[in-house]
Amino acid sequence: MNKSKGNRSLYTLVFIVVCSVGLVNIEATNLQARKNGQKDHCNKTVDIYEDVSSPDLMPENFGKPLTCWYRFRSFRGTPKDWILRIKFNKFKVGTLLNASHCQGGYMQVRVVAVLGMSIVDGNAKTDVSNRKEPGMFCGETEQPQTFMSETSFVKIVFHVDNFTDQTYFSFDTKAEQQLVVYLRYGQHPELYPNRRGEVVQGSYCERIFRDCRLQTCYVQSPAYPGVYPRNLHCRYYLNTRLPFIKLYIENEEFNIDGQRCENIMTCPMRPISSGQENCPYDYIKIYDGKNEFSPVIGTFCGMGKFPYSIIGTSQDLFVEFVSSPAGPLLNTGFHFNVGNWPGHVDTAGSRNGTCDWLLSSESLRASGDSEGIFLSVAHWYPPHTSCTYLMQGEEGEIVRLYFPSFRINRIESPIKPIDGDCGESLTLYDASWPNDAKIIKTFCDTFSKPMEKHDFVSSGNALFVRFESKTGSYSGSSLYYWAHYDFFNNTKLGEPVPGKPCDEVFASWKTTKGWLRSPLNTLVYKQPPNSEDVQCLYRFVTDKRLYARVILTINRIHFKDHPYNPGPCTNCLEDRIDKLVVWEPLPAGVNSSHPAITLTKAAQMGEVTCICNRHTRPTQIISKGEQLNLQLIVDSAHSALSYFKHNAALFEATYEFVHGPLCGPSLIQPTTDGDIHYPFYEAIGYVEPPKSIRCIWEIKVNRDRDLWIHFDRVKFASKSCDDGIVDIFLKDKAESFLSVCGENVSLAKELPILSAAQLSPDGAEPAITVQFVGRTSPTRAAFKIAWTELFHLPRNTDGSLKTSRLTEAGSAAEIIEGCEFTCPGDAGLCIPARLVCNGVVNCPNVSNIEGSSFLSDESDELCVQETHNDINWLYIALAGVGTVLVLCFLCVCIYRKCCRYCCSDDDDDDD
Ligand SMILES: *[C@@H]1O[C@H](CO)[C@@H](O)[C@H](O)[C@H]1NC(C)=O
Ligand SMILES: *[C@@H]1O[C@H](CO)[C@@H](O)[C@H](O)[C@H]1NC(C)=O
Ligand SMILES: *[C@@H]1O[C@H](CO)[C@@H](O)[C@H](O)[C@H]1NC(C)=O
Ligand SMILES: *[C@@H]1O[C@H](CO)[C@@H](O)[C@H](O)[C@H]1NC(C)=O
Ligand SMILES: *[C@@H]1O[C@H](CO)[C@@H](O)[C@H](O)[C@H]1NC(C)=O
Ligand SMILES: *[C@@H]1O[C@H](CO)[C@@H](O)[C@H](O)[C@H]1NC(C)=O
Ligand SMILES: *[C@@H]1O[C@H](CO)[C@@H](O)[C@H](O)[C@H]1NC(C)=O
Ligand SMILES: *[C@@H]1O[C@H](CO)[C@@H](O)[C@H](O)[C@H]1NC(C)=O
Repeated sequence: MNKSKGNRSLYTLVFIVVCSVGLVNIEATNLQARKNGQKDHCNKTVDIYEDVSSPDLMPENFGKPLTCWYRFRSFRGTPKDWILRIKFNKFKVGTLLNASHCQGGYMQVRVVAVLGMSIVDGNAKTDVSNRKEPGMFCGETEQPQTFMSETSFVKIVFHVDNFTDQTYFSFDTKAEQQLVVYLRYGQHPELYPNRRGEVVQGSYCERIFRDCRLQTCYVQSPAYPGVYPRNLHCRYYLNTRLPFIKLYIENEEFNIDGQRCENIMTCPMRPISSGQENCPYDYIKIYDGKNEFSPVIGTFCGMGKFPYSIIGTSQDLFVEFVSSPAGPLLNTGFHFNVGNWPGHVDTAGSRNGTCDWLLSSESLRASGDSEGIFLSVAHWYPPHTSCTYLMQGEEGEIVRLYFPSFRINRIESPIKPIDGDCGESLTLYDASWPNDAKIIKTFCDTFSKPMEKHDFVSSGNALFVRFESKTGSYSGSSLYYWAHYDFFNNTKLGEPVPGKPCDEVFASWKTTKGWLRSPLNTLVYKQPPNSEDVQCLYRFVTDKRLYARVILTINRIHFKDHPYNPGPCTNCLEDRIDKLVVWEPLPAGVNSSHPAITLTKAAQMGEVTCICNRHTRPTQIISKGEQLNLQLIVDSAHSALSYFKHNAALFEATYEFVHGPLCGPSLIQPTTDGDIHYPFYEAIGYVEPPKSIRCIWEIKVNRDRDLWIHFDRVKFASKSCDDGIVDIFLKDKAESFLSVCGENVSLAKELPILSAAQLSPDGAEPAITVQFVGRTSPTRAAFKIAWTELFHLPRNTDGSLKTSRLTEAGSAAEIIEGCEFTCPGDAGLCIPARLVCNGVVNCPNVSNIEGSSFLSDESDELCVQETHNDINWLYIALAGVGTVLVLCFLCVCIYRKCCRYCCSDDDDDDD
């Protein structure tokens, strides 16, 4: 009692001396303390700043068992944020036998006596100090080692079986303010009160970390940076509130069981190793989740710089720290930081298993995004991990994948290092499953270059990506990427052309009419600037036996305005502007084996329709032959900018194949007369009548001839225009010149003559177009349209006709050459003689027939004479003429005979 009181007053004195006199006096004070405390090196309560050493070796205690305990004067009265630092300057007590036993200095296999020192540590927050099995330290320590405690409830117990000069120890203690111990508390500990977690009530070292996202948390072994106690089992519950939780070490040493000195001669340092088999005694074990039932990421021990971070798959990690009952006074434990690794991105898709994703266009649409994203695995994964991504579009869609960011690193934190290439790989398949025959590209950690911003496009509606790792990783993939994917509707309304991104073929044997538009798949516009123009060729093909013509109607054009299309639409073909061009790839009258005419050739021949007006009215193009080409040309300089992901159509058009076999020939070369029969009788037998029909005949006319068209026979089953409507179009006129249906068929009887000027307004080949449209059944209409080419009698200077053929045959015959028969009326129309009385009226009907001196070509007067009296009258005439000639000859002879006599008389008379 008196002794301890004396000690206390002495301590107070010492403290005052230290404070007032200064450090010079410390040694003197210690000396004094040592002198005074000679007897009580053992079993005592130690004052802070007091040096303690093992009892002196004396005959009384030599070779005897010795037990000594030490307690520490409490901090009471001092601020709370002080810690106790115990520094062992010398330590040699027993030897380590194995993880659970310490042994005497020499070999005595029988000895089981407990040798060594145990430290019972308390805890400031919970006041729990009663660890039942504190474990043991033993062996020799050459460097000073420290132990730290937040409380002064520390009891150190030394026990030696046989006290000799081979057992010694000494330590001193200090109280330090926490902020000085920055290795343990970091800078500004007052700002982050829960940085080291909160201790669970009733436990020694179980800590809960609630939010390590806003503050970096410290997960430390107890007594860090001092030697950790023995026989520990600590649990740490870590949480960052947001994935991914990351456990990392900056510069701190890691030393868990870094030296274990069972062998007295060597006490080797053990490098950092992992696995329960390599770390059987002291270890830290990290679980990927909330508790010990979660998957184990790894078990670690050894010493050195911990080489990698550990990134969990979620926001939780559970850490266990275990130290064995016996061990050396050497290992300082660990200090990990806990933070948040912001590599987490919500992926629009569904996950199957840990990392097999189904990324469908449906779920992407549902998420409202136009692009989906997935990232390389950013967290840990075990060896032989395979992660797959199936990007699944709907029917007709294609998938594009590109990497806005891609880096290929060394494998930095393998769980199971391997020799050889390709510890990790990323493979892209043009299929919905890992079909090795359809690999687009494989990236590999050892030999590939990353490909940033390159588009990988599937041919079908799925793209499969597989990441494989043989090594596994504690902190994410060595192939680091952001992948973006999106889907494009690659539906084609026509037949696609292999190898061409946007060409289509429309064949009459597939569909006879339909619509088309610019590509739905706007990826075709994604061309690098200054590459070739974006060109989409739409070919319309048929066979003469099915249809003779294509009608293409371009309904809408929506090219973007300035500044994408810089120029106005002046020279459509030449200018660098977005345009549509239409031309016929086959010259008229050749079959489809003829080589196609290119756009350039067609342009040279001036037979291209080019449309570049941005908002134009519908344009209709009727082909002359069986094929028609439509080409969309978009300037690559702006195509990607203007039209990539631009969903509106650049153009919309309809097409129809027309002029089936029932229509007969579609093109009629110039003849003096001709007719069209509908239906075309030759076709009737072998053609199944279509539901509706459209015929377009082009009737070519000789130059400088007028044309008289007349309906010879017309039969419409009803008055309805649906049964049939016949239109006659003049060249270059959109409006029909004549349009008749059943209800006004009588109007077709009286048709004016079409003049040569009407037939060829621009001086080109004269022609007219006749169109018949039957919307119900083609058999409900029948007609015959006949025509005659006419030419005019020349006129006299006074304007009257030179109708002098009959009277002045000589000179007039030259001028009116070919006018073999003059039609009635004052128009002076001529037709060839062979059309007279041929059974078809070839002269136009003239109302004031009375005033004419001529008869119509089929008038009874002409035709009766010619048909009935032709041969008789000719013979009679010939006979008559012959008789007259004979008589004349006779007369001439007689006359000459007479004259010879008479005249000679006269002559004689004259003479
Ligand atoms: C110290 O105390 C323990 C019991 O607490 C006792 O066994 C031991 O002999 C004491 N040591 C000395 C040197 O008195
Ligand atoms: C203690 O150790 C000494 C020296 O090593 C030895 O001579 C002595 O016999 C030992 N005593 C006992 C009780 O083991
Ligand atoms: C440690 O050594 C003691 C004494 O030899 C023995 O009883 C015990 O089984 C050993 N423990 C281990 C884990 O080897
Ligand atoms: C999930 O994966 C398993 C095995 O990998 C597979 O059999 C199953 O079909 C998958 N389920 C879905 C919905 O993808
Ligand atoms: C693709 O476009 C076609 C034609 O517009 C449409 O019918 C089809 O539904 C579209 N497909 C998807 C998946 O949107
Ligand atoms: C096309 O015409 C050529 C001659 O002009 C002929 O040799 C060839 O057989 C024809 N081909 C077809 C498919 O009619
Ligand atoms: C005949 O009737 C149709 C339908 O009513 C009409 O479109 C057409 O103009 C008419 N033809 C004439 C010559 O009046
Ligand atoms: C010619 O007109 C007359 C009356 O103007 C008419 O009776 C006759 O049928 C018409 N002939 C033809 C072929 O149209």
